[in-house]
Amino acid sequence: MSVRIGFVGCGGIANAHMQNLVKIDGAEMVAFSDIVEEKARKAADQYGGKAFADYRAMYDGVEMDAVYVCLPPFAHTDQEILAAQAGLALFVEKPLALTMDKAREIEAAIADAGVISCAAYHWRYHDTAKWAREALAGGTIGMVLGWWMGGLPGVAWWRVQDQSGGQILEQTTHIIDMARYLAGEVERVSAEMALRVMTDVENISVPDVGTVNLRFASGAIGNITNSCVPPGWKNGLVVIGDRKTVIFDQSNFELRTSAGAETRTFQPIAAHFRESEGFVNAVATGDASGILSDYSDGVKSLAVSIAANKSAQTGEPVMIADV
Ligand SMILES: NC(=O)c1ccc[n+]([C@@H]2O[C@H](COP(=O)([O-])OP(=O)(O)OC[C@H]3O[C@@H](n4cnc5c(N)ncnc54)[C@H](O)[C@@H]3O)[C@@H](O)[C@H]2O)c1
Repeated sequence: MSVRIGFVGCGGIANAHMQNLVKIDGAEMVAFSDIVEEKARKAADQYGGKAFADYRAMYDGVEMDAVYVCLPPFAHTDQEILAAQAGLALFVEKPLALTMDKAREIEAAIADAGVISCAAYHWRYHDTAKWAREALAGGTIGMVLGWWMGGLPGVAWWRVQDQSGGQILEQTTHIIDMARYLAGEVERVSAEMALRVMTDVENISVPDVGTVNLRFASGAIGNITNSCVPPGWKNGLVVIGDRKTVIFDQSNFELRTSAGAETRTFQPIAAHFRESEGFVNAVATGDASGILSDYSDGVKSLAVSIAANKSAQTGEPVMIADV
């Protein structure tokens, strides 16, 4: 069966997904929408299908099985809700929304409709993450350290706190998601954030440095630190397990034990492809086992970022159950 796919948002990451979908058996891109209609038209010219400025017109006008929602955090309104109500499977880029209220409203619509969903946490599809899970399986986790030391993304909305939620919500969410994937649910966070260096950037309101302490439900502890001050450094994690240490990022994996250190490498480009392949296969067959994070799972990663922002604002620790 061919899976007919539409896009809501045809910007940077949407185009990366299109380049993968065109190579996936059974995937057929049939419609594209973007408030900047020219972007939708460009995609339609390249991949075939119809272009729209309004996603509602796309939902009404084209027969589809699934939608890729590739919007900035602030732009999620009713795109997923209307799609779910129309019975369409949903692939939604991280972070899933800007607020817990919006994410929970969408989560409920997906549950009510019973449609397949994927939260696009592509790090889960890296072999490095799989090796980390395997190395740590069944053992006690002591501590998770993570960092996202990036630069300032070029898209204008990213530097505005009320549009992106800042780096902890926008990019570092990948590291938070990995921490949850390996060490289980987070119970409490305590964060410090500041805008220190990038004060001369026009319109900036996001912190450019931040650090978050974590307490997991298991009793494990952790810290995730981020910066968007160029030139940046690395994105990755260190996990202290039961007399073993796992160190990994998107391409490099190292397992340190008393027997020595073992290293492996991975081509990270494959992760986005696997993510879409798992989603398309799930929609085609109804078997969702190839989706490593559904919408509800992604909401839990969002909650940690939102709790961290709240803690940084109030100066108080925040329980995840309270956001
Ligand atoms: N998983 C990853 O590796 C990865 C990488 C980059 C971005 N992302 C995520 O993808 C999302 C989008 O990021 P991007 O870099 O593609 O941003 P972008 O600004 O390049 O693209 C967003 C697109 O959405 C369109 N848009 C905005 N509001 C809309 C609306 N109401 N209806 C239809 N279209 C609308 C914009 O015109 C733009 O074309 C973000 O949440 C980001 O975090 C994920």
